Amino acid sequence: MAARTKVICFANNKGGSGKSTTCSNVGYGLTQLGRKVLLIDGDMQLNLSLSLFDEDTVLGFAQGEKNLYGAIRRQDGLEDYIVRTPYDDLDLIPSSTLMSSIEYELFTKWQREYILKKGISGIVASGKYDYILIDAPPTLGGWVMNILCASDEIIIPVEASPWGLFGLGNMFEFLDQMRQITPGLKLGGIVITKVDTRKNYFRQTIETLRELDDVKVFDTYIRVDSGVEWSQDNNAPVMAYRKSSRSAKEYMELTKEIDEAR
Ligand SMILES: Nc1ncnc2c1ncn2[C@@H]1O[C@H](COP(=O)(O)OP(=O)(O)OP(=O)(O)O)[C@@H](O)[C@H]1O
Ligand SMILES: [Mg+2]
Repeated sequence: MAARTKVICFANNKGGSGKSTTCSNVGYGLTQLGRKVLLIDGDMQLNLSLSLFDEDTVLGFAQGEKNLYGAIRRQDGLEDYIVRTPYDDLDLIPSSTLMSSIEYELFTKWQREYILKKGISGIVASGKYDYILIDAPPTLGGWVMNILCASDEIIIPVEASPWGLFGLGNMFEFLDQMRQITPGLKLGGIVITKVDTRKNYFRQTIETLRELDDVKVFDTYIRVDSGVEWSQDNNAPVMAYRKSSRSAKEYMELTKEIDEAR
């Protein structure tokens, strides 16, 4: 029998650390390894959705009923909110700019940390996907609690910068507290992103992170690459848009590390 659907979220309170880029590329990368993947855009910035569809299409999803906000507000099963992407074996639940009021929506709900977990339970039970990957916003409130409660594992993209490391402290504290309500949540690992090898600082970042006890740091780190921005400008994962680019190759290596840990 096939292994059950694994749910992984990409989260870090620090903005711009590479969550959406990593979620999109690992999602696409997993399909290249023969896996079936559902992406969930959990952020009102719509970046994960924009990594697969053009702006008009994404705004169309956001303004219509078929998006994550509508599903959470109505506490519907998410199976009816899935859209197919231009890529084989890669589906998406799009986000909405209305996600800005999601904390308010959650506030009035019973067992409000578990709405997303319940929402995806039918999809998980169907075994249709090998992976569900969730892109989290750069916040640490009730909605991110929902994302963590719905996940088997969290992967934390960290930018190789002093403030990137500083923010990680908050993240670990939040995770410690979260374990009280979702003790099974595993820290899948830290991915170091946006590494500029011309600067020596990244070496210190990597050393500092590797010294942390009980925290896995993926061997593959992702270097700064203009291919990432070009691909985002063209609404595609860099692995699909520029397969031969440095970041595409690095994201493929990272994807293999993640899939091997399955
Ligand atoms: N390897 C890379 N090389 C160059 N630019 C990158 C790379 N990775 C990410 N970026 C750029 O850095 C910015 C932040 O990346 P991304 O949106 O993935 O981070 P995020 O953590 O999702 O941000 P937010 O916290 O706002 O959701 C984007 O403009 C993206 O194009
Ligand atoms: Mg993002």
